[in-house]
Amino acid sequence: VKRTPFIAGNWKMNLDHLQAIAFVQKLAWALADAKHDFADAEVAVFPPFTDLRSVQTLVAADSLPIGYGAQDVSAHDSGAYTGEISGAFLAQLDCTYVIIGHSERRTLHGETDAEVNAKVAAAHRHGLVPVVCVGETADDLETHGPSAVPVAQLRAALEGVDGSKGLVVAYEPVWAIGSGQAATPAQAEQVAAALRALLVELLGEEVAQSTRVLYGGSVKAANIASFLREPNVDGALVGGASLDIDEFSSIVRFKK
Ligand code: G3H
Repeated sequence: VKRTPFIAGNWKMNLDHLQAIAFVQKLAWALADAKHDFADAEVAVFPPFTDLRSVQTLVAADSLPIGYGAQDVSAHDSGAYTGEISGAFLAQLDCTYVIIGHSERRTLHGETDAEVNAKVAAAHRHGLVPVVCVGETADDLETHGPSAVPVAQLRAALEGVDGSKGLVVAYEPVWAIGSGQAATPAQAEQVAAALRALLVELLGEEVAQSTRVLYGGSVKAANIASFLREPNVDGALVGGASLDIDEFSSIVRFKK
């Protein structure tokens, strides 16, 4: 099965809506420039909620080949949930994707596996494709080995989930996020393969083979190709390097 490589830029709490417009315009130029040697990847950005309307307008106006989504979604559809954002609102802004269970939400906001699972269901109710993040801390790695925690997190996230509704998985070792200390391609491949084996068990062979499994954690232009050479790594969830237009443009033009 051929899976289209997916390069996703998670801006986290960076770039206001004016900066977002400038960034997306420059990214579109970079993609147009690269047309002849473009590696046939799908590219998406994940701006703050307040940028999404601007990104929607820009992408729609020129039919830009840039996907986008939100960094989180409420498990609820509407009601008295101050500060929460419904998947219905994201769908109205033509978001394709939504990141769910990023380690910063799990660690800094106490998000549990059960909440992650409820958010995946919410995304599917509204036709959004969840980008489910899993990953172990340095302590987990020492105590449980490389795959146990990410596999357990994914199993919990996918409980009761209908595989036909679309899914992207992102393996992000917590120790590699923002540390400059990326996992090795072999480490990423080992966990990505374990996650795919779980997808086979939970969702069946066909869905498992068509689901993209990304690696995230200190990805940059200099190391992207090494990850994409691994058979079970289908792209990257890029944080810091997705904020620098030159660096991100080089990443999306990776050559294997
Ligand atoms: O969602 C992105 C990840 O947290 C990776 O962040 O590329 O800055 O290490 P990073």
